[in-house]
Amino acid sequence: MSQTYYIETWGCQMNELDSERLSGNLKLRGYRRVDDETQANLILLNTCSVRDKAEQKVFSRLGRLRELKRETGAKIGVCGCVAQQEGERILERAPWVDFVMGPGNVGHLDEVLEHGTRLAVEFPEDRKYDAFAIDRTSPTKAWVTIIEGCNKNCTFCIVPTTRGREVSRPFDDVLREVRTAVDSGRVEIELLGQTVNAYRCPITGNDFGALLAAAAELEGVARLRFTTSHPAEVNDSMIAAMRDHANISRYLHLPVQSGSSRVLRRMKRLYTREKYLETIARIRAAIPEIHFSTDIIVGFPGETEEDFQETLSLIEEVRYGSLFAFKYSPRPGTPSVRIGPPLDDAIASERLQRLFDLHEEHKRERLASYRGRVVPVLVEGPSRNDASMLSGRTDDFWVVNFHGDPATPLGSILGVRIDAAQHHTLRGEAVR
Ligand code: 5AD
Repeated sequence: MSQTYYIETWGCQMNELDSERLSGNLKLRGYRRVDDETQANLILLNTCSVRDKAEQKVFSRLGRLRELKRETGAKIGVCGCVAQQEGERILERAPWVDFVMGPGNVGHLDEVLEHGTRLAVEFPEDRKYDAFAIDRTSPTKAWVTIIEGCNKNCTFCIVPTTRGREVSRPFDDVLREVRTAVDSGRVEIELLGQTVNAYRCPITGNDFGALLAAAAELEGVARLRFTTSHPAEVNDSMIAAMRDHANISRYLHLPVQSGSSRVLRRMKRLYTREKYLETIARIRAAIPEIHFSTDIIVGFPGETEEDFQETLSLIEEVRYGSLFAFKYSPRPGTPSVRIGPPLDDAIASERLQRLFDLHEEHKRERLASYRGRVVPVLVEGPSRNDASMLSGRTDDFWVVNFHGDPATPLGSILGVRIDAAQHHTLRGEAVR
């Protein structure tokens, strides 16, 4: 009987990719993946600690797994950012956990299992990123890490602690991985990094724009996406690469966090409201049809009604197609904890609601603008809610559910006439 494993993943795309790397490693060792934790010899929790009650969530999950372990004897590993943040405390509070392994050690799962290591939370010199041992879950799309860690010091953010200092991968390694992914049918590539546009090749010094251009020019790359960009790292070479390559997505996630320069300074975001808006204008001048998306934190310590009004007016000015907003959540050990307490929860909730109401209009307007147009859609598979329809995404990242030939090969790009805009998605019909 082969060994079996079960992985649960929370959080960002980087975590999802880490799970694919863990999974790929286990498959190479002869393990088989199961979707039912009661059937697993090894249970991995790949955790996220960016917001909310992440630690509590993990401990309550571990409480339930303790029972399961009594019955099945499964090994339990806690991975990801909560593992990095809590480290030894997890082993103390939940001694039935077999090992705790941070994001810097994903490539070292082998040794952890072989040596029975209980705590792997140092950042090894060699992260052992094995591009050939990634168990990619999507048949059409591949995530490719280009830079790990983060050197920014945003005062609210736990990431510098959990993912360590920035390390860029060599240019040629990245391009080789993209080629391998494309050869396996993953024609959509998403380059990943906490601050993806801080990329610098450690060998040649090539910047992110150069990498984007080189990846876009590889044979067979139908779509090229990337996340997440930091506004202060946007430069001309990045904008030019996006402008000059039709297969680079016209979608840019550019988290602003707040529209108030006073709050931005206290967040240590390294730009002002004016500078951010200037960056947006520069990008729009080069790529008028771009779909901007953003993240906003509401209720940062000391955020006044005037600060919040500035956030609303910035949103009004940019008119984002997509927006993700969160209540500020104090992260253990981050500098913002010393700035002051979070805002009163009722006020934060009310601000969040006003922000969503405003954004809703902009999103609706953007989605409605596609009606009647024929847009290229990369086919990802059957639609989730209606298997008689196909589903895919536009170049600028909207989900489209549409009627089309069910025999359409996954990963092809079809023209789809958009008939209707729904709440978050578009509907249409493939045209011949
Ligand atoms: N509280 C609330 N939101 C946060 N984010 C990061 N840290 C925090 C925090 N302490 C949000 C930011 C970031 C997104 C990934 O999560 O908006 O861009």
